[in-house]
Amino acid sequence: MTAAPRPGVTVFLTGLSGAGKSTIADALVARLEAEGRPVTVLDGDVVRTHLSSELSFSKEHRDLNIRRIGWVAGEVVKHGGTVVVAAIAPYEAAREEARRLVEKNGRFVLVHLSTPLEVCEDRDVKGLYAKARTGEIAVFTGVSDPYEPPVRAELVIDTSVTPLTESVARIRAEMDRA
Ligand code: ADX
Repeated sequence: MTAAPRPGVTVFLTGLSGAGKSTIADALVARLEAEGRPVTVLDGDVVRTHLSSELSFSKEHRDLNIRRIGWVAGEVVKHGGTVVVAAIAPYEAAREEARRLVEKNGRFVLVHLSTPLEVCEDRDVKGLYAKARTGEIAVFTGVSDPYEPPVRAELVIDTSVTPLTESVARIRAEMDRA
C-alpha cells in the first residue's frame, strides 16, 4: 500500500516590519530545502516588486496584496506544495481570507511574530521607522497605521526572546501536526 500524499502547507508569517519575518523565512526555507523539500517563498517586498507593483499601502491595497498572496498559496498547496509567506498583513479579515483560500486545498499555519514595536523600531533594519517618526513616511504600520493582532494564530513567537533555531523548530513541528 502506498502512503497517502502529504497535504500541501502554507506557513504565513505576519508581524510588524522588523519583527523577524524574513529572517525566520530564510532559515525555515533553508531547513526545508535541506530536507529535499522545494518551497515557494512569497515575501512581501518581493511580491510587491513582481505581483503587486502597482499597489500602495492603503488598507484596500494591503488587503488586495494579501488576497493575491493567499490565492497563489492556495494554487501551490493544491498540488501538495509548500509555501512560506512573509508579509506584514496587518488586517485580520484579509489574513482570514488568505486562510480560507489555502484551507480549500491544504493546511494553513499562521505564525504571529509578536516582537514588540520598541524592539522592531530599535532594530530599524531598513531605516523606515526613523522616516515614519519624522513624517517622511506619513502612514507606517505600528507608528501611524494599525496592526490588528491575529485572533487565532497557530503559533505566537516573540523574536526578542526566542532564539532563531527555536522559532524554526517550533514552526517545523507545527507543519507536521495533523
Ligand atoms: S502588507 O501590509 O501589504 O502585507 P508587505 O509585507 O507586502 O505589506 O510590505 C511591507 C514592506 O513594505 C515593509 O517591510 C517595508 O519595507 C515596506 N514599506 C514601505 N512603506 C510602508 C508603509 N507605509 N507601511 C509598511 N511597510 C512599508
